[in-house]
Amino acid sequence: MEKTVQLYEGKAKKVYATADPALVIVSYKDDATAFDGTKKGTIMGKGAVNNRMSNFLMKKLMDAGVPTHFVEELNDRETVVKKVEIVPLEVIVRNASAGHFSSRYGVEEGILFDEPVLEFSYKNDDLHDPLLNTSHALALKLATREEIDTIKAMALKVNEELKAFFAGCGVRLIDFKLEFGRLGDGTIVLADEISPDTCRFWDAKTNEKLDKDRFRRDLGNVEEAYQEMMRRVFGE
Ligand code: TMP
Ligand code: ASP
Repeated sequence: MEKTVQLYEGKAKKVYATADPALVIVSYKDDATAFDGTKKGTIMGKGAVNNRMSNFLMKKLMDAGVPTHFVEELNDRETVVKKVEIVPLEVIVRNASAGHFSSRYGVEEGILFDEPVLEFSYKNDDLHDPLLNTSHALALKLATREEIDTIKAMALKVNEELKAFFAGCGVRLIDFKLEFGRLGDGTIVLADEISPDTCRFWDAKTNEKLDKDRFRRDLGNVEEAYQEMMRRVFGE
């Protein structure tokens, strides 16, 4: 499968058309941004880590019955995925307090919740991805009620699978962000990526951060954290 024209360039990935209108190729970059793109940098090797880890996790989720966009890994940075129309919702699942949950509600990080918190943001950089609820999403016609029900159920299922998997790697899955897409026939599938860019991973013993918060917060050892997560997941 070969790339043809570039369709889109995002902050962390490029998307190319292929000869098959139902398939596109995503190419993961080492570019990193935070705070709506106002903080910019490079995390060497990130593209390959995110591509390989995301594909591995998507395959695991497909085995567990979660439909995803994944088709075939081409090389370290490039993957064939099904072409989708992205639902403009950032679907966040939280198992413990951190990040915006902590700042918004004034609580320290690391408090374990009795049950997962499910949260939506409107995927819109100009508006700074504002938090919204199901009624807002319906009013804005971002998705149908049926689609939102499907997305919520899938997000919670993904959480159960990933939490268990990462526990086996000695990692606490604190929270993560998912994106969903519609196939040509309207089927909802998990899309985008699952990686240290989109998840908070804390070492189970020391609570050391092994994710993009090291870049967002200038904690140092950013590349090392991404490589450590590769070792945890692949045993490399
Ligand atoms: P938050 O606490 O900043 O809302 O982040 C929740 C989770 O979502 C965290 O694992 C990081 C991830 N995330 C993204 O993937 N993209 C984003 O733009 C933001 C703000 C967070
Ligand atoms: N990548 C996102 C941005 O630049 C934010 C983040 O992951 O923190 O908006």
